Amino acid sequence: MALKMEDVVSLCKRRGFVFQSSEIYGGFASCWDYGPLGAELKRNVKNAWWRAVVQERDDMVGLDSSILMHPKIWEASGHVATFNDPLVDCKTCKGRFRQDHLDVTPCPQKPSKLAGQAEQCQLTEARLFNLMFKTHVGPVEAEDGSNMAYLRPETAQGIFVNFNNVLNTSRKKLPFGIAQIGKAFRNEITPGNFTFRTREFEQMEIEYFCRPEDAPRLHQEWIQSRYQWYLDLGMKAENLSLRPHEKDELAHYAQSAESTGTTDIEYQFPFMEKPAELEGIANRADFDLTQHSKFSGQKLSYFDPQTNEHITPYVIEPSAGADRGTLAFLVDAYHEEEVKPGDMRTVLKFHPDLAPIKVAVLPLLKKRDDIVEVCRNLTHDLKKKTIATYDDTASIGKLYRRQDEIGTPFCVTVDVDTVEKDQSVTVRDRDTMQQERVHLDQVKQYVLDKLER
Ligand code: GAP
Repeated sequence: MALKMEDVVSLCKRRGFVFQSSEIYGGFASCWDYGPLGAELKRNVKNAWWRAVVQERDDMVGLDSSILMHPKIWEASGHVATFNDPLVDCKTCKGRFRQDHLDVTPCPQKPSKLAGQAEQCQLTEARLFNLMFKTHVGPVEAEDGSNMAYLRPETAQGIFVNFNNVLNTSRKKLPFGIAQIGKAFRNEITPGNFTFRTREFEQMEIEYFCRPEDAPRLHQEWIQSRYQWYLDLGMKAENLSLRPHEKDELAHYAQSAESTGTTDIEYQFPFMEKPAELEGIANRADFDLTQHSKFSGQKLSYFDPQTNEHITPYVIEPSAGADRGTLAFLVDAYHEEEVKPGDMRTVLKFHPDLAPIKVAVLPLLKKRDDIVEVCRNLTHDLKKKTIATYDDTASIGKLYRRQDEIGTPFCVTVDVDTVEKDQSVTVRDRDTMQQERVHLDQVKQYVLDKLER
């Protein structure tokens, strides 16, 4: 049976992956908090991304720019003029919908029909609604709006406006890229599908600068390497797909004749009708550097000492959502299996790099001080190298199931034989459920090697 969104939400709450924001006050629409395991999982997704796109490459550097920036940036970027969604209201139910999402939005009063299609629906004409959140800087809001600022709707612009700073300090040669992870905010008309579409979310973005003639080739290379990243972290190929944007859906920065457009990496969530975007890889040509040069009056170009020319680099932008990626990894890892007739287990088969906890150390008998002491010492030792936990709050069978359900790749059990006979422990593999006896002296290295596989 296909996994329903309620099952994911319920597992996330039950096991401490994701909680509704402001829950004790009745919740706050479309905002979510990551609990102890969710915080680890999302951090692991971000770390895996940073390692792959910054630390393992010679042509990339990182950045951490601020959320509040000069408001002119958003004029230059085109967001003030064009970062709009078409909004329609229903005069009957007072619902507000995105006109371009009506084909997947149920009518709130008659969910078997789409919004606008039930007899009583009365939709207004669409009007454009800007998605940027506004605030003001300083204690008093100026009447003339002079201290107005936006919460950034994408992290990308922080990279473009730091182009000269990074180039001058890192001395990178084209092609090179700048990566950043950070919060972005959009006043979405129809947030939903749990953490898939929210008003506050994290992006993992790369702006990769290159010579114009290299952009089409590098665009393809980035599409392939980003797609491969999801596979390398264990995502099932059958759930992933690539979709080039149609001309009429291209964002303003990818519409020029010089751009090779945008291709999305999509994931088929079991609770969504169509594959949905996890990441877009756009060819922004020289749109952003040209715009910021114009608006700031500062030259944003690259001097090529070999050809003695100043060029405005083109930009390939792989832009991923950390929350969407995390949700997709979680859903993809979710399995329900029949262990033996009538005995089911839920298991999250995370790639070891993503698993929130890598190894759990469990005592077979929690009342035996000598067993518990071995467990505590081993956990302490493992914690120096990996994420380990000790748990003695249930019987061993239940403890295994609990670790399966949060995706812990290995459990190490200490029993009476460990302390009385062979100084060995049982290592259980989450996926195969096979158990192996390993000497206490070797178990740390044994587990670390397996986690590295
Ligand atoms: N700089 C380009 C850019 O921002 P985007 O397609 O609007 O492009 C990039 O956003 C990624 O950010 C998306 O692929 C998605 O993963 C994530 N994202 C965008 N809006 C989101 C939202 N409301 N909630 C969660 N993630 C979102």
